[in-house]
Amino acid sequence: MDLAGKRIVLGLSGGVACYKAAELTRALIRSGARVQVVMTDAAEHFITPVTMQALSGQPVYRSQWDARIDNNMAHIDLTRDADALVIAPCSADFIFKLAHGACDDLLSTLCVARPASVPLLVAPAMNVEMWLNPATQRNVARIREDGIRVLGPGAGEQACGETGMGRMLEPEQLLAEIIAAFQPKVLAGKRVLLTAGPTFEPIDPVRGITNLSSGKMGFAVARAAREAGAEVTLVAGPTALATPSGVRRIDVRSAREMHEAVLSQVDGKDVFIAVAAVADWRVANASAQKLKKTAAGDVPSLQFEQNPDILASVAALPAAPYCVGFAAESENLLQYGEEKRRRKKVPLLVGNIGHATFGSDENELVLFDQDGHRHLPRAAKQALARLLVAEIAARLA
Ligand code: CTP
Repeated sequence: MDLAGKRIVLGLSGGVACYKAAELTRALIRSGARVQVVMTDAAEHFITPVTMQALSGQPVYRSQWDARIDNNMAHIDLTRDADALVIAPCSADFIFKLAHGACDDLLSTLCVARPASVPLLVAPAMNVEMWLNPATQRNVARIREDGIRVLGPGAGEQACGETGMGRMLEPEQLLAEIIAAFQPKVLAGKRVLLTAGPTFEPIDPVRGITNLSSGKMGFAVARAAREAGAEVTLVAGPTALATPSGVRRIDVRSAREMHEAVLSQVDGKDVFIAVAAVADWRVANASAQKLKKTAAGDVPSLQFEQNPDILASVAALPAAPYCVGFAAESENLLQYGEEKRRRKKVPLLVGNIGHATFGSDENELVLFDQDGHRHLPRAAKQALARLLVAEIAARLA
């Protein structure tokens, strides 16, 4: 429940993407938020207040003159207890209104009348030419200068049949951005490099050796670092996970490719977090062609050679970033974890309690540093990732 207890005013302006606002409402509520919907007249051409009321479980507000608020101060009252104001979809016309401080309907007035402490996030949705129009771009630049957060837009197929920038971000992406807006910016201005996922070591063009790492923990840490304001580069082994919003991703397959990618990216980074489950060995006699069964039933014999230790090689660099390692042990975690931290010469090592964590959405961690160890009890990987990022930030400071 990443938004437990948060009160969000969700404003809809006119656009086909109003249908996505319905899904966004459900996603916000699933994450624990209380959602108060406000709609413009134009939005009502695309979706009815009845739908939004049913989904949000709250009466929908549409008019400045709504008599349901006794003092006739809907434009003031609706944001007084809000934690954030989100406009999704935000039309070109609504961006224009925001850029000029217009107050000619309830939603625009709410934006102008909101307390300075209530963040305003907008998700533009419009045709590609409308988005690229210099007037729109001028207005977008202006609202950014005013501290309004502009989420997206994305590129792709549009309702009008054209293709290009201007699509509203998907509800799940918007949800992630809204959650991110509430995270403390403890890594603002920092550059973070991570590895995540398994590696794959080929045996021949169609076979290989890999491990059970899902990449979930590493992706969660990448997302948490991004939410905390860092510039994040994620070197990922083979995994189908979606890239966290705002994170730069480099896909690799083998440990050697991961090593090369990390070394090419490490310059200027403040933090390196090695979450990947890197294969210790690769097949030395990998075949360029597919191995065939023989009539005699011979089995191939594989020879192994050691892969580079990515974490240890980064930690040994003359201008090494702050290095964080992970360890998955099947026994003796407290002893092996501290030994591993010293062997790899890293200031912080994170032990996964039990290797059954692979693929799960939950985890339980032990942090090892020079002062000893500390237990982070079982929780969602994303929640643990945020705690870990806070621990790293505290140590950097
Ligand atoms: N690691 C790495 N490169 C390797 C092996 C491991 O960067 N070739 C990193 C992992 O990403 C992790 C840490 O080192 O952060 C520990 O990984 P782990 O597999 O637990 O340790 P190993 O060094 O492989 O030791 P062992 O297999 O003996 O436990």
